[in-house]
Amino acid sequence: MNILVTGGAGFIGSHTVVALVEAGYQPVILDNFSNSEKSVLVGINQITGRTIPCYEGDCNEATLVRSILEKESIQGVIHFAAYKAVGESMEQPLKYYRNNLGSLLVLLEEMEKVGIHQLIFSSSCTVYGEPEHLPVTEQTPVQKAMSVYGNTKQIGEEILRDVVAAQTPFKIIALRYFNPVGAHPSALIGELPRGVPNNLIPFVTQTAAGIRKELTVFGSDYATADGSCIRDYIHVMDLAEAHVAALHKLGQLQERSFYDEVNVGTGVGNSVLEIVESFQEISKVPLPYKIGDRRSGDIPQIYADVQKSEAFLGWKASRSLKDSLQDAWRWQQKLAARS
Ligand code: UFG
Repeated sequence: MNILVTGGAGFIGSHTVVALVEAGYQPVILDNFSNSEKSVLVGINQITGRTIPCYEGDCNEATLVRSILEKESIQGVIHFAAYKAVGESMEQPLKYYRNNLGSLLVLLEEMEKVGIHQLIFSSSCTVYGEPEHLPVTEQTPVQKAMSVYGNTKQIGEEILRDVVAAQTPFKIIALRYFNPVGAHPSALIGELPRGVPNNLIPFVTQTAAGIRKELTVFGSDYATADGSCIRDYIHVMDLAEAHVAALHKLGQLQERSFYDEVNVGTGVGNSVLEIVESFQEISKVPLPYKIGDRRSGDIPQIYADVQKSEAFLGWKASRSLKDSLQDAWRWQQKLAARS
């Protein structure tokens, strides 16, 4: 089965392409390389032993999308292509709304024209805002988005819900990701943050590698056991395999029209200070850090209720936090050796 993976050269996209090949699918990548590198393709091809077809271009270009859908006999689509920097989204809202929502609309329109109806959409746990009860289930009410980026995910979900409510023959699953971390265990692909990383794990590995002087733990006065924030860190290969499970599920559905949302996390929350400690234990490298102020927009804690992903997708995360940190560290060392 041929699957179009938009944003297939990105962090989650590239790992999903590998998981798709392992599961017997034929992925086709569409990526504009605005936040990735061509070397990712080399890594994917080395891991899979295949040359994965890749189109360089924008998911907002209707004619390009249409021609790939037809030429490659695509049967389903996984849509990763989107901007994802929370801070930047507040400074350049139009850029985010245009790209993240525009590409989704183009994709849906072109899929409809050529009669392709299976879609998996990248959503985020950010749609829950600051939840009252933990763990968060898919029934937990969606709250007003705290960022433009988060709003593009909420609106994206609404668009999909409306399209399916209109009885179009689309079958769509939105996966609400928790915090993706780690890298492929081969260290042939991984995360490629641009400039100073915003996210915790790349900052930790870059600090351990001596690229950054010290990590700042954003806040130690939250109402959590050790005062630092808690997140649900999921290995990117587990997350990749959740997409394979979702695709499989779409193929089994009897309904003519279908839309639903599923959390993709481990169900376990870890604090920033626990990450710091575990990383030092695993890497045997001391990690210089200081406690700093809270980062604006951060919520104290969130982690997933995983009952639905287990029951509906028949999938659950199998890799540990240790695996994630080990693989992230191996990838960082590989990157350092490369440059
Ligand atoms: N943190 C630090 N120091 C750093 C970086 C992060 O202490 O240098 C802390 C943050 O305060 C937070 C935790 O580490 O408590 C995780 O932060 P990340 O930036 O890695 O991840 P977030 O949970 O903030 O963001 C992630 C995704 C977003 C998504 C959001 C939804 O990166 O795309 O989850 O909650 F919108």
